[in-house]
Amino acid sequence: MSESFIYLDNNATTPLLPEVVDAMSTVMVLPYGNPSSPHSIGEGTRDIIETARGQVSNLINGNPDNLIFTSGGSEANNQAILSGLGVSGLRRIVTSSVEHSSIKKLCENLEGKGISVEFLPVDSSGLINLNYLEEKLKLHKAFVSIQWVNNETGVIQPISEIAAICKKYHCLFHTDAAQALGKLEIDISSLDPDYLTITAHKINGPQGVGALYAKDIEKLTAIVVSGTEEFGKRGGTENLLGIVGFGKACEIRKRDYNECIDKMGKYRDAFEGFILTALPELKTNGSRTQRVCNTTNIQFPGVDGRAMMSQLDNNDVICSQTSACVSQIPEPSFVLMAMGLDAEDAFSSLRFSFSSLNTIDEAKDAAEKVIEVYNKVKSLFRY
Ligand SMILES: Cc1ncc(COP(=O)(O)O)c(C=O)c1O
Repeated sequence: MSESFIYLDNNATTPLLPEVVDAMSTVMVLPYGNPSSPHSIGEGTRDIIETARGQVSNLINGNPDNLIFTSGGSEANNQAILSGLGVSGLRRIVTSSVEHSSIKKLCENLEGKGISVEFLPVDSSGLINLNYLEEKLKLHKAFVSIQWVNNETGVIQPISEIAAICKKYHCLFHTDAAQALGKLEIDISSLDPDYLTITAHKINGPQGVGALYAKDIEKLTAIVVSGTEEFGKRGGTENLLGIVGFGKACEIRKRDYNECIDKMGKYRDAFEGFILTALPELKTNGSRTQRVCNTTNIQFPGVDGRAMMSQLDNNDVICSQTSACVSQIPEPSFVLMAMGLDAEDAFSSLRFSFSSLNTIDEAKDAAEKVIEVYNKVKSLFRY
């Protein structure tokens, strides 16, 4: 691949911001101390972690005492569900059919262990039906886990309404906000979820670090068991560098939020508009109105998206078909299938996701290449 590729796979992961790299590099050469050590060097490290906890909590308007660091969004999702079931004694989960695999797989595993799981359907826009959710919760209490923003389509679930329904029926509510962080305003104090998941690497922070917010920290149980780290709720010496990078990325996103949203929206809209004008036979997958600013998922009828993705890669445009963690599985996207697409249409779809580090020229150049590659692949590989 050339040096000058156009990276449009930011829902999979984002490049580190230079300021994040600087913050992490500074900590790398500080005197070495384990944050749990009782000496002064350990205390210094603890302070660094607490600063980051404050920066991350600030971006979601939450209390730092209710937030623990984890190895990422997947771990936080697993811990939220296992904690919620453990503390409440609930044997029932209500979730959606378009969740990230860290929730989908865990729920499938739990189903095999006698927990009843309801995977709520979504409509062709990718949205769950609130009346249907309410009907389900009216019948029996459950632990509810519904994502805020879908990683493949960018579709935004009506999360405040979902939280209110859960509250009305005294159900514990978790939301996976991994793709919402930094793209939507997250205000813990008004949403008031029982648990909320976030991760660093979707907002130009490092991979391998995330966080779980819990309304009542006592309603968290450790799934990595060790000492008193992270209020005793997540054992193991903290990932200091990752946490510092996460904190810095959150501080920057809070500061530059409007500018970032504005840029991502402009780039995505220019890219999508250019392609759909040139190729009116194409369609986008998922709601166009209830959608975050950086994502478009486009169906290229009659071509295999995998062939197109590989041709685009050869032309220095990087995109994806499904989420990175399931993309090695040769199956059509379960998210798109849940929205009613057949396997052929799902395979013909591609996800393009922008970050504020892209440029308008990249958006236009990439759109031109997509049009060119589509026309070429269509003539070569028509199913
Ligand atoms: C919606 C969603 N949830 C959870 C995750 C998992 O986060 P992580 O990669 O930090 O484990 C991702 C990342 O792809 C995601 O998009």
